Amino acid sequence: MTEQSPQKIFLADYTPPAYLIESVELTFKLAPTTTRVMSKIRFTPNPNAASKEFFLHGEQLNLISASIDGSTVTPEPVEGGLKCDVPNAPFTWEAEVEINPEANTALEGLYMSGGMYCTQCEAEGFRRITYYPDRPDVMAPFKVRIEGNDPVLLSNGNPVASGEGWAEWHDPWPKPAYLFALVAGDLIARDDSFTTMSGKEVALKLWVRPGDEGKTAFGMQALKDSMKWDEEVYGREYDLDIFQIVAVSDFNMGAMENKGLNIFNTSAVLASPETSTDANFERIEAIIAHEYFHNWTGNRITCRDWFQLSLKEGLTVFRDQQFSGDIRSEAVCRINDVIALRGRQFREDNGPLAHQVQPDSFVEINNFYTATIYEKGAELIRMMKTLVGHDAYYKALDLYFSRHDGDAATIEDWVRVFEESTGRDLTQFRRWYKQAGTPRLKVDDDFKDGTYTLRFKQETPPTPEQDEKLPQHIPIAVGLLNPNGDEVLPTQILEMTDAEQSFAFEGHSAKPTPSILRHFSAPVILERESSAEERAFLLAHDTDPFNKWEAGRALAKDVLIAMITGEDAPTAAYLDAVAAMLRDDNLDPAFRALALHLPAQDDIAQTLADGSVTPDPLAIYNAHQTLRQQMAEHLQDLLPRLSAEMDVSEPFEPNAEQAGKRALGLELLKVTTRLDSGAAAQALYDRADNMTLRMGALGCLLEARKGDAALADFRTRFEGDALVMDKWFAMQVAHAAPEQAADMAERLTNDSDFNWKNPNRFRAVFGALMMNQAGFHEATGKGYALFADWLIKLDPVNAQITARMSTGFETWKRWDADRQAMMKTQLERIAATRDLSSDTQEMVGRILN
Ligand code: PHE
Ligand code: ZN
Repeated sequence: MTEQSPQKIFLADYTPPAYLIESVELTFKLAPTTTRVMSKIRFTPNPNAASKEFFLHGEQLNLISASIDGSTVTPEPVEGGLKCDVPNAPFTWEAEVEINPEANTALEGLYMSGGMYCTQCEAEGFRRITYYPDRPDVMAPFKVRIEGNDPVLLSNGNPVASGEGWAEWHDPWPKPAYLFALVAGDLIARDDSFTTMSGKEVALKLWVRPGDEGKTAFGMQALKDSMKWDEEVYGREYDLDIFQIVAVSDFNMGAMENKGLNIFNTSAVLASPETSTDANFERIEAIIAHEYFHNWTGNRITCRDWFQLSLKEGLTVFRDQQFSGDIRSEAVCRINDVIALRGRQFREDNGPLAHQVQPDSFVEINNFYTATIYEKGAELIRMMKTLVGHDAYYKALDLYFSRHDGDAATIEDWVRVFEESTGRDLTQFRRWYKQAGTPRLKVDDDFKDGTYTLRFKQETPPTPEQDEKLPQHIPIAVGLLNPNGDEVLPTQILEMTDAEQSFAFEGHSAKPTPSILRHFSAPVILERESSAEERAFLLAHDTDPFNKWEAGRALAKDVLIAMITGEDAPTAAYLDAVAAMLRDDNLDPAFRALALHLPAQDDIAQTLADGSVTPDPLAIYNAHQTLRQQMAEHLQDLLPRLSAEMDVSEPFEPNAEQAGKRALGLELLKVTTRLDSGAAAQALYDRADNMTLRMGALGCLLEARKGDAALADFRTRFEGDALVMDKWFAMQVAHAAPEQAADMAERLTNDSDFNWKNPNRFRAVFGALMMNQAGFHEATGKGYALFADWLIKLDPVNAQITARMSTGFETWKRWDADRQAMMKTQLERIAATRDLSSDTQEMVGRILN
């Protein structure tokens, strides 16, 4: 075993680049195993740099020749690149390298996906294309010439000229190398156009493989909606003559914001009613918006270094959340965003992988594309907006865009813009970027002489390498209701800055009921002793939709946890409250669907562990089953009428209104399936004309262990459609019984359609296995062993995906001694694997510590 511990990089060690770039010209002569890349780069010494050393990154490159100002040079190969003696004045570097896109299974740099060439350069992939200062603070305009046999040859920026077998592109906007992109293949475009607010016409193209044209309409519309929204809300206009999106089948992430040429995982852009669910449509719309919004928050203003990653990601996630909230239901979007935050970011922040939104160090930057950088980063921006208010927020953003346009900026630059523009001191707020861990917010209250007092206590538990935590600046949105359920105090923002702080509200004739942390105003865990009556009261009366939903969720959690710990469960109170809520026709069906959805099993496990109870995954699973059965019996009389009301008779539209009805209809079907052992689900499957209902029905049938016929039918219908076959794989594992999930996953890995080198397919099976909590943690440990086998197998092929999926083990310390021991054994087995990638080494090492 090669015991080489991976190299840590520190934020504190940042130094400016020794050389800046005035212009870049690249020529690609494409060939699957022998692509030649010629570069011509105009360098100039950076007056602000201390060093004069000329270093270029380069990995897996075969250097053919190099010259400086026309004279051949022989650079010195060094770890991770090369060095060379250069003049102490501007000079032109030229090099020719050979690379092998076909052998590139890591999907980083230039690679091939189903016969087409494509690139992925963020974060450090460009160094696999040519020698270059591959760091985001080196920005340059690019000219690109592509020579190849493919009919379509694309790169960033505007088209310059093209002919048979070649094309030239020019991107006038200086950009870091991580935003470079090239695509070549047999593709066809959906064409459209957009007229910007200043009257400029922009050509829009969405490129797909022949056969996928029918899945491009929705994505194109989402793009146009995004362009319009960014003009209207942020005043941001697009800045090239053309904007292109390309769909690629083999892609590690969702999508990538390359300047003017976004590259998308097919799963994040292709959509049709027959093959995509409402949830798919919503996600696609959000990702298209996200990547488009990066044009300003990421590309025009980029990051100085990768420690600033949340500068572009947190802000861009916040912007895409705002967009979705504006064009769909704001309340429902917020609830879904918080469910995702708790499911992924709280899990991360409360385990061995907890890290700062602005990390101080890392080994492999690819391991930091995390829920903390993205989703917690977005929450910080949301809190800043809450603290300064709507108008001051947009004024600060105008200043950010005008001051930093063209910069490679820092998070500190961002916070300073807010301070200068609003006059507020954000010194304490900066802790949110530097302190890992989810704050716990404890509340109690009292009522005396007409004065109602809320007392808060905040505490952030220790996280790896960070034991001491200081109080955070927490915006707490609070409203008060009187005993009749009327709101007597509309939402106020309380600013908590101390470890303990009280807030008094005078002039109340009776003790009010508080609604705390409305709209989830801060990413904290609220701990408040509360009765089932109070929760049911808030579920019935709270005017804040988030907290209304939250009250129902808290009540459901109380029931499930009491069932597991053997205490008195407030089941009757919960079921009555749910029935009343379901009957309320004034409530958006989407909201009712969310309120009926049980809290995730992972959420229950985390809460138990938080309260020092060792969770038992099977007991949690069984509590879910029991509660759903009780729900079915309790709601029996309500089901037929309500289900019928949720039928959509109009032609399918992926809009929020129809999606809400389908969501509630399917939640009710889950309940119904408990009573009719799948009859209604089978009937729905047979008549479904869209994927939302088809998949919802199939899920119910699988849960009832009645899915064989539907499953076979599903495969016959969709055999050739990779994205739908991903669903076919994932569903079987997701809905497998606890003792069968690992066997099911293993059986599926032997299926002729299991193409494990494709990230979507690998995730379909193993992502589903790690999400099936009781199945993954099945008592004999076969889930762990299978999972580890496949991580070990994937690591040499695609280290990025392996490292990311190793988070399946991140909760290991939460479980009982037997499970801990089995998980640890697997982690150690992975760690001991010969030639393990530094990506996976870093993750497994951190998880084990
Ligand atoms: N920057 C991309 C995004 O957030 C994500 C990404 C990171 C894609 C790294 C590929 C590689 O939209
Ligand atoms: Zn992003």
